[in-house]
Amino acid sequence: MKILMVCLGNICRSPLAEGIMKQKAAENGLEWTVDSAGTGAWHAGELPDRRSIATARKKGVDISDQRARQFQIADFERFDKIFVMDTQNMSDVLRLATSEAQRGKVELMLDQIHPGLRRSVPDPYYDDNGFEEVFDMLDQACSAFVSRYL
Ligand code: 4NP
Repeated sequence: MKILMVCLGNICRSPLAEGIMKQKAAENGLEWTVDSAGTGAWHAGELPDRRSIATARKKGVDISDQRARQFQIADFERFDKIFVMDTQNMSDVLRLATSEAQRGKVELMLDQIHPGLRRSVPDPYYDDNGFEEVFDMLDQACSAFVSRYL
């Protein structure tokens, strides 16, 4: 299974989702490829936000080797599953899709724990206190997804 996590900047939410999913897959002996990307290019090449790195580290997840990159149309073919963090990411990614097969790969991350409710992972960029909450919702969503393959 090849999974891509997508948010806006690829420095706050999707790096956490990538790190959490990688760790859960490894812990459960699943040989998955997990990557992340942003719909925007502003932060390409940068490390994850220091608050995401710190929050992940506190929870035992190391995301300090990640670098931000922009989502590319080729990602539709490189990945089996594209988890988007919010409904804006969803529209931005779907706009680039050229087939039903590609559209079918795109899913809201929180649909794993709140099916059909179209909930978004809140953008913590402007909220110093939001990172822990974001980590916890991503942790639950990734656990729910992984449990379907155990
Ligand atoms: P992310 O958060 O999409 O979770 O990585 C953001 C990071 C940067 C910006 C917005 C959201 N920004 O506007 O620079």
